[in-house]
Amino acid sequence: MALADIAVIGMAVMGRNLALNMAEKGFTVAVYNRTVERTEAAMLEAGPLAERLIPCRTIEDLRAAVRPPRPVVIMVKAGTPVDDTIEQLLPMLDPKDILIDAGNANFRDTLRRDKRLTALGFDFLGVGVSGGEEGARHGPSIMIGGATDAVARVEPVFTAIAARYQGDPCAAHVGADGAGHFVKTIHNGIEYADMQMIAEIYGLLRQAHGLAPAAIADVFAGWSKGPLDSYLVEITAQALRTVDADTGKPLVDLVVDSAGQKGTGRWSAIEALDLGVPASAIGAAVDARGISAMRALRAAVAARYALPAIPVRPADEAAVLDLEKALIAGKILAYAQGFAAMAAASAQFGWSLPLGRIARIWRAGCIIRSAFLDRIATAYDADPSTASILLDPQLGSLLADCLPAMRRVVAGALTEGRAVPALAAGLAYLQTLAQTRTTADLIQVQRDIFGAHGFERLDRPGAHHGPWSSGID
Ligand code: 6PG
Repeated sequence: MALADIAVIGMAVMGRNLALNMAEKGFTVAVYNRTVERTEAAMLEAGPLAERLIPCRTIEDLRAAVRPPRPVVIMVKAGTPVDDTIEQLLPMLDPKDILIDAGNANFRDTLRRDKRLTALGFDFLGVGVSGGEEGARHGPSIMIGGATDAVARVEPVFTAIAARYQGDPCAAHVGADGAGHFVKTIHNGIEYADMQMIAEIYGLLRQAHGLAPAAIADVFAGWSKGPLDSYLVEITAQALRTVDADTGKPLVDLVVDSAGQKGTGRWSAIEALDLGVPASAIGAAVDARGISAMRALRAAVAARYALPAIPVRPADEAAVLDLEKALIAGKILAYAQGFAAMAAASAQFGWSLPLGRIARIWRAGCIIRSAFLDRIATAYDADPSTASILLDPQLGSLLADCLPAMRRVVAGALTEGRAVPALAAGLAYLQTLAQTRTTADLIQVQRDIFGAHGFERLDRPGAHHGPWSSGID
């Protein structure tokens, strides 16, 4: 058999499917897993594609199987397993071989690994891959970080296996070292916010309007034909329509209401905080998952603070339209926060992130894929250095049209004691930003009183201090 074009290490779901995708696109792929059984299972699953896979039992076999300089994709659990795999590989590789971490790495680990590996003469890429199992197999969205010459050598593979949006491949070199994993982290932060806002709207349709899951599925299916056309809205309709075969109940009602998380959403919020960029809707979504997992505490607090008993309101056309608009507005605000975090990181880490292109490669393949991202791309085409997508005339008009509905929905929910944390955070972000004069004048005064931090005056230059009156008489 000819030498392989590329290697994939890690034959769990994502690695296996990426390798099959590559084989299907005509590449010969050397595959390896720490436990040989997984490699054997992948070969069996490959069917006719097995003829383009070279199963390797050892790292030595892998070295021999791939044409140098060897691109080696590492698709193992993020964290220590990636470091362990790199350590195993290093003695087996030659300078200019390219190590590619395609897992959900923390971009700070990618920065560290990049520094070390490039100092040793290897090329290293940190690649964000989105789309889950299905995406990996048939076309993910791919965010590539690394040095330009190394990226150029493997880009044909990524371009070939990526999803396509109207023919445009959803793969791009987004910047140096950790840029790909940072962009994937923000993708996941937005994913968290998008999912949480959808869940909040579902909650209102269910609890405030008394609709059954199947009826709510119809509402979401209808919305997926409009501005909310997206994968997440589509799978929401699919989820709510599903009935448990054993009990005949909606399956969603049998699922424990405690959401898991592997860390990327949290990293997104942490990095935004660190960059000084508000990402409150993303943070609220991360917190909501955290609170969902506090089942015992929720039960105790629920017993102590009973929610007001409010009669169910009809889910008439006006109410449903308000909820659709609230979700559109929430989505714009969450994306505005995610893109602002990327813009700040781009400046901080010297990446020159192509924000319009990033929006374009998220239009297909990834979990947050949606038609709406095309509007964000257009906003960056019109003004690549815009401070916020909220300033784009078209997105701005859409948001302005949806805001009154969002205010009604959030205010109504809060008055009724219902939880809409991500929508409320998104709205608070907008309303805080939309002040020509904030109440930070008082904050400055407080800082000066307790810490002599000083303040600027509107009517004269320089730094000023009190005098402040002596306090409460
Ligand atoms: C994707 C997903 C994928 C996965 C994450 C998030 O883009 O394909 O984001 O990477 O779902 O692991 O998962 P958690 O919800 O467990 O954090």
